[in-house]
Formats: sequence, structure tokens, C-alpha cells
Amino acid sequence: MKHKGRYGPYGGFYVPEVLIPALEEIEAAFERFKNDPEFYEELGALYADYAGRPTPLYYARRFSETVGFAVYIKREDLLHGGAHKINNTLGQGLLARYMGKTKLIAETGAGQHGLATAIVGALFGMQTKVFMGCTDVQRQNVNVHKMRLMGAEVIPVEGGTGTLKDAINDALRYWTAHVSDTFYLFGTAGGPHPYPSVVRYFQEPIGRETRRQCLDKIGRLPDLVAACVGGGSNAIGIFSGFLDDPQVQLIGVEGGGKGLDTRQHCATLAKGSVGILHGSRTYLLQDENGQIHETECISAGLDYPGVGPEHSYLKDTGRAKYVAVTDEEVLDVFDLFCKTEGIIPALESSHALAWIYRQKGRLSQDTLAVVNLSGRGDKDIGIVEQHRPLGEGLL
Ligand SMILES: Cc1ncc(COP(=O)(O)O)c(C=O)c1O
Repeated sequence: MKHKGRYGPYGGFYVPEVLIPALEEIEAAFERFKNDPEFYEELGALYADYAGRPTPLYYARRFSETVGFAVYIKREDLLHGGAHKINNTLGQGLLARYMGKTKLIAETGAGQHGLATAIVGALFGMQTKVFMGCTDVQRQNVNVHKMRLMGAEVIPVEGGTGTLKDAINDALRYWTAHVSDTFYLFGTAGGPHPYPSVVRYFQEPIGRETRRQCLDKIGRLPDLVAACVGGGSNAIGIFSGFLDDPQVQLIGVEGGGKGLDTRQHCATLAKGSVGILHGSRTYLLQDENGQIHETECISAGLDYPGVGPEHSYLKDTGRAKYVAVTDEEVLDVFDLFCKTEGIIPALESSHALAWIYRQKGRLSQDTLAVVNLSGRGDKDIGIVEQHRPLGEGLL
């Protein structure tokens, strides 16, 4: 099993023995049901009628005028629940139901994956527990309320920095003791096989739709596609539509926190080294003894010292480029985007917008860029207010 789910030297399956049958069961069910017409039809109907797919590809005119080239926005923020996470939770939740499971567990950072799991738990009538680090429970408390409203139990995790890494540790620990009736609905394109390929599969509609919309609306493919990278699910979702188009540059944007010259950042691919975390061989932030670094960045959804293994592979092969932007750049563009487009972007998605803004004056006016707006920023208003009480920004 150690060699399954490889992306070059990355990925794999480094888990305690007790979890192996559970992961094999998910892999077998995924292979069976993804090609099952009934599953496919039911998921397609949920995507369309419940989640709101396809999402629009929108020309951000005033933001484009500000940066000096054309920027189109893939509106995943308009999905039910407010982020791309629902694509994955509907897919895995339905898989769990087809497998006869009655209980879901999940980890969450920004609360968006926890919320999307709580939504699906309510929709399918499944008991749902969401593990969330204490720091995140505080900074994303609106989502905590929403999860509880939908009947999910939110379990605050005290250990470590109280962020996503600690929530995953506890969720895996809990799963080890409850594998028989519980489905672990993993939230990003990382972790042990088969999660990186399962999550990618359920996020692929983003890339497929974007490619088709570019051709239909604009008549050509974009020059570059940018997406933020936490564990990497929204990025791999949109990148997957363009991996075979070498002329399209793929840019993954990580959390640079207070700057890459400090230790307060979450730029796993830009600054990390190879190791094993949460069941997968990948780039991660660690010291010379393999101790995981504490990460720190303004956006809870990017506050993670690892990354999905396919991104490690895309970095090494050069097919995608990974960059980092600072919290200050993110706050600036958050404000600018609200004022030029009337759209409140999630702080996670604002990382991709901040990299685009950094290209102002550096790219030709013929450039066509697409940004995956992975989520809406209503959950982040309190955090932004703490940092920018007077709404100071670029405008
Ligand atoms: C809106 C939003 N975008 C992006 C992310 C990062 O996750 P991923 O890299 O898996 O897309 C999160 C995580 O919580 C999120 O809430």
C-alpha cells in the first residue's frame, strides 16, 4: 500500500495499521461509485440544484483597470456555504452514504470545510463531529455558530497552536478508535491515499468549467491561472482543467504571513523541505530534526505546515509555480477588491488576488488572468477589522 497514490516521489500511505482497512474501503468504494451512473447523476443534481454549479466566470472590470490587464474571477464564493469546500463534501458525503456509513467526522481550519461537512451531515441525516483548533474556534466563530445550527458537534482542540494541523491530528486519533461506523471526510487534497485523488476528483468541476467558460466567453485560454494553496484543494481543482495546456501558467499562492525571512509564515512549498506529515510524503515546514514548525498567517485556511502531494510534484516538475504573499499585501487587496468589485473575498482567496496585484505594471495589457475566488469573506470581517480598524487600504 505504501506505493499507492504516488505523485512522483510524493504521496503514499503512511498511517497506523488500524486505519489501512478503512482507507482501502474508501478507495474501493470511490473506484466503484465514481463510475456508477446513479451516483454520478445524484451528485450532478446536488452540484446543480443544491450547491449552485456551474459557478460564473466573471470579468472584474474595475480591478482589471487597476492592475492593467484582464482579470477574470471564478466565483466559487457563490456556492452554498460560501466556498469551494461543498464540492468535496457533497462528493465524499454521498460516497459515505453509498457505503452505508452513518457518522461523519471532519477537521477544519477556517471553518469552511467544517461548515460544508455540517451542511452535508444535515442534508443526509448523518451524525457529524468537527474537530477545530482553539485558535480557529475563536477567530472563525461565525462558522462555529453555523456548524452548531446545522446540528454538528464542534470539538475544540487544545494542543499545539490550536490550528488545522492539530485538528487533523485529533480527527485521525478519533478515527483510529471509531473506524467501523465513521467516515472521515477529509477537507483538502492532502493526507494519506486515497484522499488526494478523491478530493481532487470532486474539485475538478472548477477546472473543467473554467476552461470551457474561457473558450466560450473570451475565445481563448488564459495566460495564467492563480489560486491560493492551503492543503491545495481549490488550486488542484482549477489547475486540473489546464495541466495539459503548457501555455497556461499555473500559480499557487501561499501564506507568507509576516514575511519569509521570519518564521511566521505558512509558505510550505516556497520554504519547506520533504518529509512525512498526516500520512503523506510531501513538502512541509520542519526543522533539521524533523520537528514541525509552528505556522502563522492571517488566514486560518492557509495556516498549515503541509501541502497536498500533487502540488509537491507540480513544483518539482516546474508545471506550477508556488509563491507567497504577506498578510499586509492580503489586507490591502481585500480592501481594494471590496471597493472596486463589491465582492468580499475570503482572506484565503485574497492571497491569489494579492499576487495578481503584485503584477501591476509587470505584465502586458494583453495578459489574461483567471483567479479562483475559493470563498467569500464574510467570516473574515472581524479579523480584518482588528488589523485595519479604519478600513485603511490602497484606495
Ligand atoms: C475559502 C477557502 N479557500 C481556500 C482554503 C484552503 O484550502 P485548500 O487549499 O484545500 O483549497 C480554505 C480552507 O479552509 C478556505 O476556506
